[in-house]
Amino acid sequence: MNISEKTAIITGGASGLGEATARHFHSLGANVAIFDVNVYRGLAISQELGSRCSFYDVDVTGDGSVAKAMARVVEKYGGVHICCNYAGIAPAVKTLGRDGPGDLELFTKVIHINLIGTFNVARLAAHEMAKNTPVDEDGSRGVIINTASVAAYEGQIGQAAYSASKGGVASMTLTMARDLARNGIRVNAIAPGLIHTPMFDAFPQEVYNSLSRQPLYPVRLGKPEEVARLAQHLVENNYMNGEVVRMDAGIRMQAK
Ligand SMILES: NC(=O)c1ccc[n+]([C@@H]2O[C@H](COP(=O)([O-])OP(=O)(O)OC[C@H]3O[C@@H](n4cnc5c(N)ncnc54)[C@H](O)[C@@H]3O)[C@@H](O)[C@H]2O)c1
Repeated sequence: MNISEKTAIITGGASGLGEATARHFHSLGANVAIFDVNVYRGLAISQELGSRCSFYDVDVTGDGSVAKAMARVVEKYGGVHICCNYAGIAPAVKTLGRDGPGDLELFTKVIHINLIGTFNVARLAAHEMAKNTPVDEDGSRGVIINTASVAAYEGQIGQAAYSASKGGVASMTLTMARDLARNGIRVNAIAPGLIHTPMFDAFPQEVYNSLSRQPLYPVRLGKPEEVARLAQHLVENNYMNGEVVRMDAGIRMQAK
């Protein structure tokens, strides 16, 4: 599916990988709708990008609020063709910590945002995409891109909640592709390794340096723009479907 003149919803589009993808798709001629809880950054980006970009104050876990924002996007741009699910959080939850059993409330919150939030937005986007007139000879009506993580396969110490949520995203991607094939909607996921987003700026220098040395080759953190270019490929290449693509410079995460 060509990106130009299509409408893309980007959750988590106010920062990091989502912001890079929002900017990239906008530069390729798409209408971009950012769904995020970070109102300040979301508005700043939409104002900077101008008329083909709009921001919606949306918590991906909210049922009614996502549906309302989706309806506003359809009203403004005439439909939804692309949905990139980047919204996510990554707090540490150990199974057994120094203070006792792992924090169940926090575990639940991570699953709720990363996994249930992804399904929530995807199902509502698919509902709109299914109404589109096919845009090419393959009958394409829409493309959904989920965000997993290498932690889906190699969760580190303290990543029980995060790896469970991303494992869920990875394993539901093929199932969603199967569910939506008859509607002309493809579903893939990106499983990034270590990508330099604002998250990394909070780390102490020695942690930052140690993480930067872990990729196999090239030995550096990934750039958000590199993920955005993979997202572009997953939209444009109609033969990519039901796949989880690791993008990690060959890294295999160790226990810590
Ligand atoms: N950066 C990496 O190395 C890396 C690696 C693997 C996977 N990922 C995944 O990629 C995605 C983006 O990560 P990032 O590094 O860009 O992080 P980030 O913190 O820079 O961006 C995440 C965005 O999601 C938004 N968000 C959080 N909860 C939300 C909610 N309930 N509703 C709507 N928006 C919400 C935040 O406000 C933020 O703008 C996440 O799902 C993350 O787990 C990142």
